Amino acid sequence: MIGIQNLTKTYKTKHGTVKGVDEVSLTIKRGEIYGIVGYSGAGKSSLLRCINLLERPTSGTITVDGTDLTSLKGEELRLARLKIGMIFQHFYLISQKTVFENIAFSLKAANYPKGQIKERVEELLATVGLAEKRDVYPAQLSGGQKQRVGIARALANNPKVLLCDEATSALDPTTTKSILNLLKKINKELNITIVLITHEMNVVKEICHRMAIMQEGRVIEEGSVYDLFASPRAELTKEFIESVVSFDVPEAILKNCEGPIIKVTFKGKVAGEGVISDMLQQCNVKGNFLHGSIEYIQELPLGIFIMELKGQKDEVKRALQYIEDRAAQVEVLRDGR
Ligand SMILES: Nc1ncnc2c1ncn2[C@@H]1O[C@H](COP(=O)(O)OP(=O)(O)OP(=O)(O)O)[C@@H](O)[C@H]1O
Ligand SMILES: [Mg+2]
Repeated sequence: MIGIQNLTKTYKTKHGTVKGVDEVSLTIKRGEIYGIVGYSGAGKSSLLRCINLLERPTSGTITVDGTDLTSLKGEELRLARLKIGMIFQHFYLISQKTVFENIAFSLKAANYPKGQIKERVEELLATVGLAEKRDVYPAQLSGGQKQRVGIARALANNPKVLLCDEATSALDPTTTKSILNLLKKINKELNITIVLITHEMNVVKEICHRMAIMQEGRVIEEGSVYDLFASPRAELTKEFIESVVSFDVPEAILKNCEGPIIKVTFKGKVAGEGVISDMLQQCNVKGNFLHGSIEYIQELPLGIFIMELKGQKDEVKRALQYIEDRAAQVEVLRDGR
């Protein structure tokens, strides 16, 4: 749906050129929710703004729904951009216009048939659950409601892609959840491809199918959210994941352990199938749980446990083998004494 090839965006400033995006290539599939994560200044907004040519790439190409946007100009580009809606952290609503007028504005700007505007706005208000706020001004809305207007406005011209720049970063956790649920619904029911940038891994874990991690303008790791949570490779990916699922065991506790300390990762259905309890029955070892949880990443379980194995060396070895044969991954964090 979206093809980004060798995209570079540099900015000329008083102090020389700054690289916002550095040789990024990504493919975002039709119908997916794709997350782009990175710290401040990593180049997320620069990349997103290049997707709809709000920012013209310095080099590289952007293809959306089969059209190379970088080759278009004027009216052709304007029409192609109608296929791409965008929402922002700070909403950017027009304060002198009512909710109805804010949404109608983007229809008028796209030459939507005059006689159908009222009906379309009302349909959009129903989609975002804001029918009763039709005639109020933005100042009378909560942050979550403002974002709903932003979403209605972005959907007005039936886009195929929705770009979200930190769309929930100004919202509290409960409101964030409700906006994420709305985005999920839009993705499913309207089959809109969503690209979402955020620095919050919770957001990614909640709704994204795949994700990319950016650092200094580059994509350093990319893949399915589930796989990255199960086996991150880059240090930065690990750091982001640890912000939502942390497995730190205090050194004071580790110090008292004698047996090897292992981290076991179970993927999918097997996470709940009692591999560890079976192992404890089959092998003559004791398991001392130090940490553990089953995370649900879009309803798919991912179990991660940290435990000390206590027992005779050969029994411990057999136990390790038993788990290794059944778990996705076993990592020995520390050898036994
Ligand atoms: N218009 C601009 N002019 C000059 N430099 C810019 C401009 N926009 C972005 N940059 C620079 O490009 C780099 C990437 O910025 P960008 O806004 O894309 O980061 P970001 O990942 O979105 O950060 P944040 O999480 O803070 O929004 C930064 O070094 C930034 O200073
Ligand atoms: Mg940004």
